[in-house]
Amino acid sequence: MRNLRVLITGASSGIGRELAAEFAERGADLVLVARRQDRLEALARELAAQHAVQAEIVTADLSREEEVRNVFEETQRRGLTIDVLVNNAGFGVMDRFQNVPTERLLQMIALNVSALTHLTRLFLPGMLERKSGRILNLASIAAFQPGPNVAVYFATKAYVLSLSEALWLELRRTGVTVTCLAPGPTRTDFGAGAAMEHTPLFRMSSMDARAVAKAGVRATLAGKSLVVPGFVNKVLTLSAKIWPRRWVLWVTGRLHPLKD
Ligand SMILES: NC(=O)c1ccc[n+]([C@@H]2O[C@H](COP(=O)([O-])OP(=O)(O)OC[C@H]3O[C@@H](n4cnc5c(N)ncnc54)[C@H](OP(=O)(O)O)[C@@H]3O)[C@@H](O)[C@H]2O)c1
Repeated sequence: MRNLRVLITGASSGIGRELAAEFAERGADLVLVARRQDRLEALARELAAQHAVQAEIVTADLSREEEVRNVFEETQRRGLTIDVLVNNAGFGVMDRFQNVPTERLLQMIALNVSALTHLTRLFLPGMLERKSGRILNLASIAAFQPGPNVAVYFATKAYVLSLSEALWLELRRTGVTVTCLAPGPTRTDFGAGAAMEHTPLFRMSSMDARAVAKAGVRATLAGKSLVVPGFVNKVLTLSAKIWPRRWVLWVTGRLHPLKD
């Protein structure tokens, strides 16, 4: 991937950080985006030194529309062509719908849905003009069914899966591919932030973030539409497809009990 540049949102921790490391290992230059500047700077320095790649940072709160646009404009001001866009930044909240502050729900939709859509819309025309590009969107196994007690998060990820698969087909024969990465529980800061670490799936079958990133990068470079890393996650998504919707809803509810 020498001479290719990858922009990764949410690169300051977790899966995004590991995606950055995976792409750098393959020789790609990086643009790392998130809010925590100190973390981005440290990662950019580390990966540039380890892999002899260029790594730049852009700090942005992507739940704010003007800052999303600014990320795109900043890459243009710096003359950076983005060959691969990775929409990874996202967060979840586990609680009853009516107990989550409205502001937090709207922030989640702004980040998980609007920023991802907006960045895709901003960077896609350049890729189409060059007849080459890759987009990687982070969904989750949450995308495959409704999530009682995590309702809005699951709904945002269903949107990501639906949008990504539709675009994958729409963009056939353009040289641009859209890949959806749908991990299950993964050991990052996400579980604690979302208050989901006590759930059975998180306790019993969480994956390593590097393994998830590796699967995502491979699928992206192969132009696949969807990748679900891990055997348990594959079984869960398959069950969600073949079981009656009411069963799936009931089981998902049991798998996401609120903390006492
Ligand atoms: N971990 C899991 O179990 C799991 C499972 C399935 C899917 N996913 C998805 O994987 C993606 C990455 O999550 P993760 O597990 O790596 O979580 P994480 O460790 O909490 O990382 C989240 C990243 O998003 C960034 N971010 C959060 N809010 C932001 C904002 N308003 N503007 C810009 N950046 C923001 C954070 O950086 P700053 O705080 O520095 O801004 C951080 O770099 C998410 O889309 C998540 O939904 C995670």
